[in-house]
Amino acid sequence: MKLSSKLLALAALGAQVQAQGPASPAQQPSAPVLNFLFSVNVTIGLSLKVGNGIMNTTRAVFPISGGQAVEPRISAKVLEVGADWAFYGTLLNGVNLLTLDGANILVEAKGQTATPTSDPKSTGAVHVQATFDTVSKAYS
Ligand SMILES: *[C@@H]1O[C@H](CO)[C@@H](O)[C@H](O)[C@H]1NC(C)=O
Ligand SMILES: *[C@@H]1O[C@H](CO)[C@@H](O)[C@H](O)[C@H]1NC(C)=O
Repeated sequence: MKLSSKLLALAALGAQVQAQGPASPAQQPSAPVLNFLFSVNVTIGLSLKVGNGIMNTTRAVFPISGGQAVEPRISAKVLEVGADWAFYGTLLNGVNLLTLDGANILVEAKGQTATPTSDPKSTGAVHVQATFDTVSKAYS
C-alpha cells in the first residue's frame, strides 16, 4: 500500500555563474544569481525504519515512487527510483527526473529540517542544497 503525499513543494534554486576569462585587477567578478527552476510533488511509500538516532528519534527511509515537477525551467515526471532518508534534523534524498522533452536529470538534495519549536511564527521551512546531474545539453 502506498501513502500518497503532496510532500514537499521543493523550490529548487540553481546558481548560475557567468563564464568569464581571468579577471583583470580592475574587473570585479559578477555575483552569482539564483533562478527558480521548478516545483515538485512526490509520492512516497511506507517508511522503512532503520533504527534510532539522536534524541532517540526514529531514522527512516521513504521510497519515492513518482511525482511531477512543474515549471518554470524544468517540467518532468519523477521516476520510480528515488528515496528520502529522514534522520532527526537532516534529510537526504535523490530522485530521477525525466523531462517532457526526454532528458534524464538526477537531483540529489540534502539539508536541514526545521527544528521543533513552539514559535507560532516558525515557517517549518526545510533548507536544502541540491545538485543536478545530466548529460543533456539542453539542461547543462
Ligand atoms: C502539488 O500539489 C498541490 C496540492 O495538490 C498542487 O496545488 C500543486 O499544483 C502541485 N504541484 C505540482 C508541481 O504538481
Ligand atoms: C527509545 O525509543 C524506544 C521506542 O522507539 C523505546 O523503547 C526506548 O525505551 C527509548 N529509549 C530511551 C532511552 O528513551
